[in-house]
Amino acid sequence: MTKNAPTRYHPLQVTFHWLTVVLVVAAFIVGRTMSDLPNDPGKITSLAVHMILGAIILIVLVVRFIARLYLPRPVHASTGNVFLDWAGKAVHYALYALVFLMTFSGMSLSLQTELLPIVFGGSGVALPADFYVFAARMLHGVIAPVLALLVVLHVEAALYHQFVLKDNLLSRMWYKKKNRRSIK
Ligand code: HEM
Ligand code: HEM
Repeated sequence: MTKNAPTRYHPLQVTFHWLTVVLVVAAFIVGRTMSDLPNDPGKITSLAVHMILGAIILIVLVVRFIARLYLPRPVHASTGNVFLDWAGKAVHYALYALVFLMTFSGMSLSLQTELLPIVFGGSGVALPADFYVFAARMLHGVIAPVLALLVVLHVEAALYHQFVLKDNLLSRMWYKKKNRRSIK
């Protein structure tokens, strides 16, 4: 496997990676903004957008993880330091796990608070007086900053590879450039 490993991720995995990034950042921003809103009907639209984003993230994540099992991928990039290499792998798995836990806790919360109908345009849904009485809300609120921190760490590691180790790691998570032939 190592001998014949490709030098970059499969285009499908690249697409899933950057799609996840856009969706998770959007869900995070909407989530942070809406949690400061007063509990009135105006909050329902933000909640619906947030929940739809979260559901799409879960689908993309599951399909991506299954595809990961079957598609060839490059060997884990080395920094030359055993601990950092191990930490890099651990962060990748932790990112998968935390994104999954965000969607899981979010969905549990919306089921407990009977918010699901708003995704389908349902009106007359009563928001709970206080979301924080639900353990799933606590979990959702605790995991969110941990995920944000891990993403910062992940980006720093990618930039360290790119600009300090100069191993062009970012190109592994991008599409292969087509050979441009001159037209005769
Ligand atoms: C990776 C996916 C997700 C991310 C990054 C995310 C992010 C967030 C953030 C940052 C908050 C505010 C936390 C705080 O201020 O303490 C929040 C709140 C919330 N999220 Fe999510 N979320 C995700 C998925 C979901 C899903 C799938 C659902 C439901 C289907 C959901 C439902 C909620 C609800 C009901 C709240 C509480 C709003 C409030 O307290 O006013 N989230 N989310
Ligand atoms: C929400 C934000 C992000 C999440 C959840 C995330 C998640 C992940 C995961 C789980 C992997 C491992 C892929 C695998 O082996 O299956 C990965 C790889 C990678 N990510 Fe991200 N990522 C995020 C943002 C970013 C950003 C902003 C950058 C660019 C600076 C980036 C650059 C990379 C690179 C270059 C790899 C490949 C690393 C390698 O070849 O070992 N990621 N990402």
